Amino acid sequence: MNPAQDLAPAPTPLTTPDATPLTDNKDRIVQTAELIPGAITETGGVFTQHLGIVDPYVQKDPERAAMITGEIEAAIAEIRTMGYQRHQPNPFTEQLYTNPNCTMARWRRAIPGAEALLPLYEVGSHLPDGTPIDDHAADLFQFAADARGIRSRAAAMTWVVENHVAKYLQDNRIQWLSLACGAAVPAFRTVRDLQAEGRDVQVTLIDQDAQALDLALHQAERHEIPRHSLVLHRQNVLHRSRLHQTLDPKRFHVAEGLGIFEYFVNDVRKRTGAQSFLQVAYELVEPGGLLVVSNMLSTHPQLAFTLIAIQWPYIWPRSVPEIVQIVREAGIPDDEVQIFLPDDGVYAVVAINKSIDRN
Ligand SMILES: C[S@@+](CC[C@H](N)C(=O)[O-])C[C@H]1O[C@@H](n2cnc3c(N)ncnc32)[C@H](O)[C@@H]1O
Repeated sequence: MNPAQDLAPAPTPLTTPDATPLTDNKDRIVQTAELIPGAITETGGVFTQHLGIVDPYVQKDPERAAMITGEIEAAIAEIRTMGYQRHQPNPFTEQLYTNPNCTMARWRRAIPGAEALLPLYEVGSHLPDGTPIDDHAADLFQFAADARGIRSRAAAMTWVVENHVAKYLQDNRIQWLSLACGAAVPAFRTVRDLQAEGRDVQVTLIDQDAQALDLALHQAERHEIPRHSLVLHRQNVLHRSRLHQTLDPKRFHVAEGLGIFEYFVNDVRKRTGAQSFLQVAYELVEPGGLLVVSNMLSTHPQLAFTLIAIQWPYIWPRSVPEIVQIVREAGIPDDEVQIFLPDDGVYAVVAINKSIDRN
């Protein structure tokens, strides 16, 4: 799947597809990373806040986390010395995936889709297809910076949304939009909290992949999100006119698109560009509403391991100034933008508070 190139066919609203059977049940749901808000700084007109993160897996076994981090850092040092580049064969990739029966080889077939992210949110005993998770994969899923970053960006999104809702939403009803939802674990964790507070949250899930929507239905059940709160559409988030046939502009109080913005090229002229994606998403948010997206940072501490050894495809890591520039080129004013930086250094989470005066 190349998200930037693969423009999906006409919208296919899903009715009630079967949830993909997973072995884990809902008492295994692991808490998200804990978050400690840090200092706020202003850079070039945009507010940035650092977030301290306590990752549940690292907290549980800090010695093993340090050991695995050390091994990954040693691999990165060698990748640098040998000058291996992205997309090139190299011994680290071979070592990770050589045995076709190992967990990592099976997991590789799922990246960068929803199925690959699921065991990073919650490292259970099996992959979604039933493949047992071996010790090597369990170490990487728990302790690699990338996995920690996927959990911390989810925690940051939850925190930003819950603050926004508490501060600005008088209405008990919340219309939530999840763009490129995947299995929608971050969305459901937040929705579950909001519903527990008595909010009536309606969730619209958009993904171009039917399997992702099946996984989302299964996760909804595990998170005890009532089926009548959900609407699912199999659609391309870049396809503005088709999205508008399905969804009313300015309708959503909260829209989030984690793990998708960074797949779109930095080109203001392209319909498949990150700027265009932001414009489409922003239009769907009601004035006074919130849009949250994320981007892998070009300063990610284990970037070479993710891109060259793991070979995570298609992604465009960016610096904070590059992200800010794209947001500006999408026509979104600086005073609506806040950037959150979890201290694992993997992702930037961008919150756009659409002004009440904007159309
Ligand atoms: C890396 S996953 C992120 C899933 C989820 N948002 C999360 O953070 O857990 C990316 C998801 O985007 C979906 N996707 C990729 N390109 C898309 C597009 N152009 N339109 C709709 N969905 C897309 C994929 O099918 C996949 O489920």
